[in-house]
Amino acid sequence: MRDFFSLKFEDDFFVYIDQTKLPLEEEYITTDNYERIAVAIERLEVRGAPAIGITAAYGITLAMKNISDNYEYQFNLAYKRLKRTRPTAVNLFWALDEMKKVFNSVDNYDDIFNKLKARAIEIHNEDIKSCDAMGENGVGLFENNSVILTHCNTGQLATGGAGTAFSVIKKAFETGKIKFVYADETRPLLQGSRLTAFELSKSNIPFEILPDSAAAFLMKQRKIDAVITGADRIAKNGDTANKIGTYNLAILCKYYKIPFYIAAPISTIDFSIENGEQIEIEMRGSDEMSHIRGVQITKEEYTTYTPAFDVTPNELITAIITDKQVHKPPYNF
Ligand code: MRU
Repeated sequence: MRDFFSLKFEDDFFVYIDQTKLPLEEEYITTDNYERIAVAIERLEVRGAPAIGITAAYGITLAMKNISDNYEYQFNLAYKRLKRTRPTAVNLFWALDEMKKVFNSVDNYDDIFNKLKARAIEIHNEDIKSCDAMGENGVGLFENNSVILTHCNTGQLATGGAGTAFSVIKKAFETGKIKFVYADETRPLLQGSRLTAFELSKSNIPFEILPDSAAAFLMKQRKIDAVITGADRIAKNGDTANKIGTYNLAILCKYYKIPFYIAAPISTIDFSIENGEQIEIEMRGSDEMSHIRGVQITKEEYTTYTPAFDVTPNELITAIITDKQVHKPPYNF
């Protein structure tokens, strides 16, 4: 694979590729400012559930860099700021709470920056391992030479490692289980045509970009063997929030009797909620509908409906692949 990286922590700075510029420009941003990191999450310069969690962990670490007093005040300020960046992906809250546990566990704050840094790096490394485990666990679900469809971006850009659904796709491609991928364009922010296409191309996996609205027509021709996506939050009963349009695909899969798979690490499961109705769905600004890369495509005065995610009910999900195992219905996390 030709090299790129999504995010890393180097010399006590956070370095990430600006995903809003991809695939046309590969631009890396370096910062040690947690407010800049919060803005990066809000603008989707860094995005994807596990990547958001890792980024927040590094962000709150950096909030304690060069601090010599008011530790609690600074930590809580950064914690609250990072927590309100995006509401749906539970990995964000999970990672921030993991960092809070470290902060609360120390007797004094003399070495707090290094202690937080160690936990953030651990969270990052755990994610790399869990991406690989999802790939291993999911690969057996596919017949040889399958043609699959995926939605949004679930790869290296969306995680700390090889990806969630993308890790499964990559492993399945390498072992002859998947031979071709349709990448849903994923309106309005085009995570499919910009980011998944970028990653498929870097991995030399044959693919075509598909307008979101073409999925039913494609399935009618029996060209799709399976659909696999990631998740931003999974309730205890398996209801799954993921990028807007995922639910449409799951309904189509039911109609055409095509397996519909979700791949996500355990950190994406929200053990505090019973079902998907309790998941907060982020609403995005109408500028994301009225403009593409700064170019206006419709009148700004036209109103829009812009949920960033939808919830797929558990009964439409054939299996949920985690880093631990393949879960089949009925789900009971
Ligand atoms: O709004 P985004 O681009 O952050 O949404 C990302 C997704 O919906 C992904 O499918 C999800 O985070 C799971 S894959 C890591």
